[in-house]
Amino acid sequence: MPTMIAFRCPHPGCGASLAESADGTGLVCAAGHAFPFAPGTRIPVFEDAPAGSSEYSIVDAAAIHDNALRWLFATFGTDEATLRERLVARLRLRPGQSVLVTGAGAGNDLPHIAEKLGGQGSIHAQDIASQMLLAGAERCGDAIAAMGIDIRFSVCDATRLPYGDAVFDAAYHYGGINLFSSIERGIAEMDRVVKPGGRIVIADEGMGAWLLKSELGRALIANNALYAHQAPLALLPETARDVTLSFELHNCFYVIDFTRGDGPLPIDLDVPHVGRRGGSIRKRFAGQLEGVDPALKEALYREAERQGVSRVEFLETALRAALGR
Ligand SMILES: C[S@@+](CC[C@H](N)C(=O)[O-])C[C@H]1O[C@@H](n2cnc3c(N)ncnc32)[C@H](O)[C@@H]1O
Ligand SMILES: [Zn+2]
Repeated sequence: MPTMIAFRCPHPGCGASLAESADGTGLVCAAGHAFPFAPGTRIPVFEDAPAGSSEYSIVDAAAIHDNALRWLFATFGTDEATLRERLVARLRLRPGQSVLVTGAGAGNDLPHIAEKLGGQGSIHAQDIASQMLLAGAERCGDAIAAMGIDIRFSVCDATRLPYGDAVFDAAYHYGGINLFSSIERGIAEMDRVVKPGGRIVIADEGMGAWLLKSELGRALIANNALYAHQAPLALLPETARDVTLSFELHNCFYVIDFTRGDGPLPIDLDVPHVGRRGGSIRKRFAGQLEGVDPALKEALYREAERQGVSRVEFLETALRAALGR
C-alpha cells in the first residue's frame, strides 16, 4: 500500500508537518502558520493569486479557459485528448504510483493520468488560481476518487510547493510554466519533490527556434507573445538524466521530459589523455598554474615534444623535482 503524501508547511524556512486546525477550518503547523480550506471544501489554500490578477483568477476563469483551449486545438488541428495522452505517456507511469500536477488549471490532464494508475496510487493537483483549481476539483475530483485513487488538490504557488523532498514518483506540467514568477524555481521544485529515478514532463508554448523569424512564427508571436518562449533547457537541474526535447502542436509547443537524477553525472574526470597536451579533464580544469613568460612556455613545450612526453607529464615532473618530491 503506497504511503499517503502529506502536505508540508510552505512558509519560508518552515517545512513542518501540518494538522487540521482545532476548529476544522484549515491546516496549521506547530509554528502556528495557518492555511484555510477553500469555502465548502477540504482543499487547502496556501497561496491564492489575488482576484482579477490574471485571466485565471476571475469569475468563470475555467469556462473562459475552455474556450481558449477550443481555439488552440482548432488552430493547430489537433485533438486535445490525443495530445494529452501523448504527453502523459512520457511520464511512463505504472499502477500505484504518485503524481504531482503543477498549474493543473481546470484539471483536463487529470483523467488521463488517473487512467494510468490502475485504480491505486495518488494524484496531487495544484494551481495558484483558486478559480481554476476549484473548477478542476469539481469537474473530476469525485470520478478520480471513485477509481480508487487518492486525489488531492491545493491552491499554492508551484515555485513554493507544500511538500517534503523526494515524495512523488513523477511530476507533470502542461501549459502554464511560462507564466510562473520564476520558471527556474518551477522546474527546481518539480525536481525536488520527485524521487530519484522519477519522471518529469514539462510542456508549454515555445516554438522551435527555426520558426521564430518565419512569417508563421512572427504571426503567432504577434497573436500571443508566449510563443516567443524557448524551451528552458538551460534551467534544468544539473543532475537531470535521459533528457528529451521535442515539439508538439506543429512545432509551436516544446516538450521536455527527463528522469530525476541522484547526484552528479557519473563522468570519470580522471581518464588520462594520450597526446601532446596530456593531463585529464580534472587536471586541465583544476590544475591550472599562474602565467609564465610565453617564450619559456614555448621552450618547455618544444622540450616535452623532443623528449616524447606530454606537456602535462613534462611539467608535473619538473614541478615535482622543484619541490623535491
Ligand atoms: C493555460 S492554463 C493551463 C491549465 C492546465 N494545465 C491545462 O493544460 O489545461 C495555465 C495555468 O497555470 C496556472 N499558474 C500560473 N502561474 C502559476 C504558479 N506560479 N503556480 C501554479 N499555477 C500557476 C494558472 O493559474 C493557470 O491555471
Ligand atoms: Zn510552518
